[in-house]
Amino acid sequence: MINPNKTLSLAIMSGKGGVGKTSISLNLGYALYQAGLKTLLMDCDLGLANLDVLLGLAPEKNLQDLLKQDTKTADVAVAVEQNGLDVLPAASGVPELVDMDEDMQNVLLEKIVQLAGKYHALILDLGAGISRTVMTFAAMSQLRVIVVTPEPTSLTDGYAVIKVLATEHKVKDFLVLVNRVESKSEGDKTFNRLAEACRAFLNIEIQKLGHIREDRQVGEAVRRQKALLALSPSSPSAQDIVTLSNRLKRYRSDNADAISRRPVLRQFSTLNSDF
Ligand SMILES: Nc1ncnc2c1ncn2[C@@H]1O[C@H](COP(=O)(O)OP(=O)(O)OP(=O)(O)O)[C@@H](O)[C@H]1O
Ligand SMILES: [Mg+2]
Repeated sequence: MINPNKTLSLAIMSGKGGVGKTSISLNLGYALYQAGLKTLLMDCDLGLANLDVLLGLAPEKNLQDLLKQDTKTADVAVAVEQNGLDVLPAASGVPELVDMDEDMQNVLLEKIVQLAGKYHALILDLGAGISRTVMTFAAMSQLRVIVVTPEPTSLTDGYAVIKVLATEHKVKDFLVLVNRVESKSEGDKTFNRLAEACRAFLNIEIQKLGHIREDRQVGEAVRRQKALLALSPSSPSAQDIVTLSNRLKRYRSDNADAISRRPVLRQFSTLNSDF
């Protein structure tokens, strides 16, 4: 039986679009599941849902159905792997979280939190950019992973996300993941560039989660609508993802007490006052 308070929530986000968030969410979730952690993937890209597409699923229900009083979250979740990896699909056309009235927000979030408590990890696949819905989900989560690539535009956009969360939402802790690198040293160089800017201009120390190498197999898995870890577990990027998931698993066990004292997702009503 899982202690409901021991769910680690993790928002996967980026400034620039197309840097690999959805693919990383799915495969990190898969790696955590393979390491024995029950994991729920939540598609929080309310405008352009795509976790279900990456898996070739045609879900019967989605987040929008949760707004109906009598729909249970467990009926909306779809199993990716039996007994341990589920996805909560979004729907195109769900109103933005911040545009919902407070009753709707509460109905949705209460149901999500109730279900998430049955998992060891909750991964939120967010849309790119700094919309208020994205910022809200990010601020509610226990950990935030900012995904960047070595491209300068991705770095400046990643910096912008950190800046808005830090200055407008008082969030100070960030993990950074550098995707699509040629080598570990390119990943380190990219991280250091971002870390220096955050230190100099925001007075924030970001943490390095790690890197994922550029790998043709990622695109192949997307085209075949399969998890990379299921299709090519020995490929370089799959190995990198396993390394990252082991770091997160260790973080979760090293911080079990702190995690059990925090809610899976911070209450929305307490966040509203920050806006
Ligand atoms: N490590 C990698 N090596 C090679 N290709 C990659 C890698 N990571 C991601 N990609 C490619 O980048 C594309 C975009 O990935 P993905 O859809 O996961 O990005 P995203 O950040 O979720 O995009 P969006 O902002 O639109 O939600 C994918 O088609 C995938 O093939
Ligand atoms: Mg995506």
